[in-house]
Amino acid sequence: MDRPWASSIKCIFLLLKQKLLKELGNRWLPYLTPKDADFHQLWQENYSKLILREASRIPELLHKEVQQAFLTLRKHDCLFQDLVRIKGKNLLTPVSRLLIGNPGYTYKYLNSRLFTVPWPVEGSNIKYTEDEIFAACRAFFKLNDYLHKDTVQALDKLRLIKSEQNEDSTVFGMVPELSKSDLDMGDDMELKKRTTYNLTLLNYMDPQKMSYLKEEPYFGMGKMAVSWHHDENLVERSTVAVYSYSCEGPEVIDDGEQSLEGRNPAVWHVGLKIAWDIETPGLAVPLHQGDCYLMLDDLNATHQHCVLAGLQPRFSSTHRVAEVEFEWLRQFWFHGHRYKKCTDWWHLPMSELEGLWKKMECVTNAVLCEIRKEGWLVEQKNEIITDLLAWLTTRQELRMEWCMRCQSRIAQNLPEDQRPICWPYWEDDDPEMPLPFDLSNIILELQGQLLKAKP
Ligand SMILES: *[C@@H]1O[C@H](CO)[C@@H](O)[C@H](O)[C@H]1NC(C)=O
Ligand SMILES: *[C@@H]1O[C@H](CO)[C@@H](O)[C@H](O)[C@H]1NC(C)=O
Ligand SMILES: *[C@@H]1O[C@H](CO)[C@@H](O)[C@H](O)[C@H]1NC(C)=O
Repeated sequence: MDRPWASSIKCIFLLLKQKLLKELGNRWLPYLTPKDADFHQLWQENYSKLILREASRIPELLHKEVQQAFLTLRKHDCLFQDLVRIKGKNLLTPVSRLLIGNPGYTYKYLNSRLFTVPWPVEGSNIKYTEDEIFAACRAFFKLNDYLHKDTVQALDKLRLIKSEQNEDSTVFGMVPELSKSDLDMGDDMELKKRTTYNLTLLNYMDPQKMSYLKEEPYFGMGKMAVSWHHDENLVERSTVAVYSYSCEGPEVIDDGEQSLEGRNPAVWHVGLKIAWDIETPGLAVPLHQGDCYLMLDDLNATHQHCVLAGLQPRFSSTHRVAEVEFEWLRQFWFHGHRYKKCTDWWHLPMSELEGLWKKMECVTNAVLCEIRKEGWLVEQKNEIITDLLAWLTTRQELRMEWCMRCQSRIAQNLPEDQRPICWPYWEDDDPEMPLPFDLSNIILELQGQLLKAKP
């Protein structure tokens, strides 16, 4: 739900962005690719927390399993375009996605919560609809373990470099340029917390099948699969590790002959820029089959990144340390029956959650009945009504928002098994439900009581 302050902040950002684009006029900002002589220097100086791991240093067997896993999940139609909400609009993402991770985990992006298809953690007993899907989830579990260990190494190295740099600048009597935040890499416990990925968000897109992809607006980097963004809802300063797999057709050779300037539009790239900065050139790093990259520490906060499309279809597996959050029931049913495709794992927790939610409706009703009785001290009563009103108003707002999202035309046009289900939902005469679905009359009643109580 957009709060008033949130929308005015959004508005300011939008104006700033428009102003920036206007100032730029028809002029692109500069950005560098490996073709440019200064590319590596710029990377080192302004993008040092982006680490590329070329495919050749990753075990061949792991490549094989992971790449097979992507193809299996595509074959079984397990990846879906998400109906997200951006700036009040319902949009279908060009990229298809699937969340795999620890059993019972979820991840929210652009106001849409995805639920994990569980990977086979030790001691779990998960039923998959197909053996192949089990094998695929196991492959991403292995990749997760590999990337976790690799990230710990990368962070150790970064810590070393930063402290050496700091010593150097102290030795030469300079004011240390490195801010405290650069060195605030935390102790071992923190390090563990920031690298223990608990899920991966898989992405898939075939650019040839997309009728429209946005052009990158600031640098002229070409077609984007994912626009500039910061990552949301992750543990602070945690790393995101990405495995990139552009598949099928001959691997495009990046011989730099196509054009003297700019990135090769046939090859997928990750683009980086410093947030709110038009001085430092952007960076476009080509991603070949099986390359990985790590976004370490606070890179997400200080920088934005985007994914630039090449010509081949491309998968990625993006490993993350997710935050714990709420707001599940409606988000789950918003995806229709898509989760049944791979496993029945969510069936039990969701029906338990619904049971608890029903109890909450009953408790709310009990409080309402109590407060309607005589004999309350005015102050006491007002305090309870004020609290209750806040809760009920939020509940009503969210309920109405989800109803609208479910009823939108774009939602109704989705294939049957993905079509949003507005659930929980009930009619006013449902004997099992103590309160109506639409809470507006109750909210009016309580507001009236507060007014009456005012002297
Ligand atoms: C980019 O790196 C240079 C050299 O270290 C530094 O002087 C400059 O401040 C950096 N720019 C930003 C925006 O961090
Ligand atoms: C990523 O950066 C954005 C913008 O600075 C911030 O709002 C968000 O919380 C960050 N996410 C993480 C996981 O640190
Ligand atoms: C994911 O792991 C991190 C680090 O161990 C933890 O802080 C976080 O709560 C976990 N996320 C969830 C959803 O439990």
